[in-house]
Formats: sequence, structure tokens, C-alpha cells
Amino acid sequence: MEKKKYISMAVIKRLPKYHRYLRELLRNDVDRISSKELSEKIGFTASQIRQDLNNFGDFGQQGYGYNVRELYKQIGIILGLTKDYNTIIIGAGNLGQAIANYSYFKSIGFKLKAIFDRNPKLVGLKISDVEVKDTDNLEEFLKNNDIDVGIICVPKEHAQGISEVLTSNGVDGIWNFAPIDLKVPKNVIVENVNLSESLLTLSCRMNDNLMGNRRKVNAIDEI
Ligand code: NAI
Repeated sequence: MEKKKYISMAVIKRLPKYHRYLRELLRNDVDRISSKELSEKIGFTASQIRQDLNNFGDFGQQGYGYNVRELYKQIGIILGLTKDYNTIIIGAGNLGQAIANYSYFKSIGFKLKAIFDRNPKLVGLKISDVEVKDTDNLEEFLKNNDIDVGIICVPKEHAQGISEVLTSNGVDGIWNFAPIDLKVPKNVIVENVNLSESLLTLSCRMNDNLMGNRRKVNAIDEI
């Protein structure tokens, strides 16, 4: 049997960006692209691109570049986008509703089957054609439906409890927005999302730029 190749997390994290750019190229009827052209668009170096894509097989041809459609398809396969994922959202507040209303997730296979909340004012509402159900019925729903992914959008105090209900009823992927590190069984994949970390990275980089500018000014002063 062929041994599975180890792919680093850094490469995996770059794949969605390749996928997004290739989708854009396809929309613009681009058939083929060289690593150099892709590099100019995507911002990774051409050698980085060749190295990344070599991890998954021989996609490119010398002097021809990459076949955009084929590369898009192959990266989609690697990203696990060849099947649908039955998905639910727990927490129908600001964030849960925003995610439910974002149609891109559906277009890449994350089919929203239900939304749960414990607030009686929200239960029964339809968001993006999907009904908000009472969290009291979550466990029963999971037992009767084959749900792959749970999106946690509840306050952090409730997130661990919700994740336990999910994982003990067959959910094996959690997209967690609550600011807490969930403890889950080994076979469950958790992907945490934190917008504030991204915002802090922005402020840090802006600050770093300022210091860089300040350094330049000081250097000029010294001349
Ligand atoms: P929100 O207060 O608008 O919504 C929370 C919803 O969860 C409410 O509708 C509430 O009734 C429901 N809820 C509470 N306990 C529940 C339970 N046990 N079962 C089912 N539903 C329950 O809050 P918002 O702004 O939507 O934030 C939700 C979560 O996402 C919070 O943990 C917040 O910290 C986090 N958040 C994370 C972001 C990120 O970048 N990761 C960005 C914004 C919010």
C-alpha cells in the first residue's frame, strides 16, 4: 500500500487561497497559468507555489504552466470539497444568523440542516429558509439526522457543553467561534475562528510599520 504523504499545516493553510484564486481565474475564462503569473496574483513566490503543488502530484507542465480547471478540481478534492457536509449552527444570535445567511458555505457543500437556540423568541424563526429549533431538541435531532459539522456560535460558557452533545452524537467536525479551547475526543476535528486575533494582528502590523517609519526618520536625523 502506498504510504500517505505528510503535508504540513502551513501548506494546508495556503490551499484555500489557491482554491479561491483559481475559482476567480475560471470565472474569467483563464485556461492555463504559470507559477510566475499565479505568484503575481496570489502573493506567494513562484518557487513556493511549485513546491506546494508538488506535494500533491504532478500538476504543472514545464513551459505550459498549470491547467487551471484541473488544478482547481484537484485542490477541491484535497480540501474535501467533493462531498456534502450536513451542517448545523448552534446559537442564532448575531454571528449565527450572519453565518446562516452567507450562501458561499452552501455553494461549497456545507448544507445547513438546522439552527438551534434556546431563546424562545428565536425558536420557530426562519433564517435563510432554515428553521431555528429549540436546543432542548438538539440531542434527538442529532440521533435522527446524520450531521457532520456543528458550528458553535453560543456564549463561551455554553460552548463546551454544546460540543459534548455534538461529539457524543456523531458530529466529527466543529467550527468553533466561541473564545474557548474545547476539549473533544481525539477523532473530532475542531477549527477555531477568532476575528479579534486577526484584528490584533492588523494593529500589531500597523504599529510595526509605524516603528519602521520612526526608525527611518531617526536614521535621517542622524545623517
Ligand atoms: P449573541 O448574544 O448575539 O448570540 C448568542 C446566541 O446564543 C443567543 O441567541 C443565545 O440565545 C444563544 N444561546 C446561548 N446559550 C445557548 C445554548 N446553550 N444553546 C443554544 N443557544 C444558546 O452573540 P454573538 O455576537 O452572536 O456571539 C456568539 C458567540 O460567538 C460568542 O461566544 C462570541 O464571543 C463569539 N464571537 C466570536 C467571534 C470570532 O471571531 N470568533 C466574533 C463574534 C462573536
